[in-house]
Amino acid sequence: MEDRNGELTEKILNLKKTRGAVILAHNYQLGEVQDIADFVGDSLELSQNAAKTDGGVIVFCGVHFMAETASILCPDKIVLLPDMHAGCPMADMITAEGLRERKGELPGVSVVCYINSSAEVKAESDVCCTSANAVKVIESLDAEEILFIPDQYLGHYVSTKVNKKMILWPGFCPTHIRIQPQHITSLRQEYPQAKVVVHPECRPEVIALADEVLSTGGMCRYASRSEVKEMIVGTEIGIIHRLRKENPGKKFIPASEQAVCPRMKLITLENILWSLQEMSPQVKVPEEIRIRAKETVDRMLMIGRG
Ligand code: 13P
Ligand code: SF4
Repeated sequence: MEDRNGELTEKILNLKKTRGAVILAHNYQLGEVQDIADFVGDSLELSQNAAKTDGGVIVFCGVHFMAETASILCPDKIVLLPDMHAGCPMADMITAEGLRERKGELPGVSVVCYINSSAEVKAESDVCCTSANAVKVIESLDAEEILFIPDQYLGHYVSTKVNKKMILWPGFCPTHIRIQPQHITSLRQEYPQAKVVVHPECRPEVIALADEVLSTGGMCRYASRSEVKEMIVGTEIGIIHRLRKENPGKKFIPASEQAVCPRMKLITLENILWSLQEMSPQVKVPEEIRIRAKETVDRMLMIGRG
């Protein structure tokens, strides 16, 4: 397997040069995929990176909405998503039509969409956010009433931090809801010195037990602090690879081995190579939607990290 990965890696890195491509990977990607990427990060960092990338081709190792965001920001670049089935089930819990209907029931409401949403849904929203800046984005708005879509748990977490009326769409992440409060309590007993860090997509009962609630990029920065020696990690387990690689000697314990996002794991060295060979499949947002979605994403990028 090691040899095969080595062989694939060499081919990918050579072809990447020929194509003038950059490889962007999310923190939940398979270890071997993270290892060949030019940049590994959270959703906010990946969109900031896509916006300023040089090459004419972006290979996006993540899920569909992330590749769409790159296409929204870089319409002149070719954006490859090595497996078109790599969609985010939470993003699929809301459609543009459903959102329009809900907006019709709430005249004048401001719509804040989590970046985990389709380009069409972004086009129907006022401003976008990620888990790294949701509180800051919502605090920056004049509106007192917010429709937050599609993640009810991130929305609930933000509602505990801001002084605004938040109406929540009932979406959720099927991976993060697998993390249960009893996982945290029993691991705390086993590792009494460990810090518990969870993603805001977790259920409120899990968030209530955490020392810190952070985006995946925030978790990576937190882990490098000198006082952190052991960390119970309440998010998708792909991040453990990066945490261990960047912090040898520290201990990282997944809150649940069940917290796997199967769609993230569809990207492999095999299909990255295939994608670069065939220059397919490409993600391209139709211009009419892209222009409207870009305003929503640009407003967020101006605000930056929380
Ligand atoms: P981050 O933006 O924190 O990386 O989260 C993305 C995501 O899909 C979490 O499930
Ligand atoms: Fe979507 Fe959850 Fe997978 Fe993140 S972990 S991409 S929110 S299904």
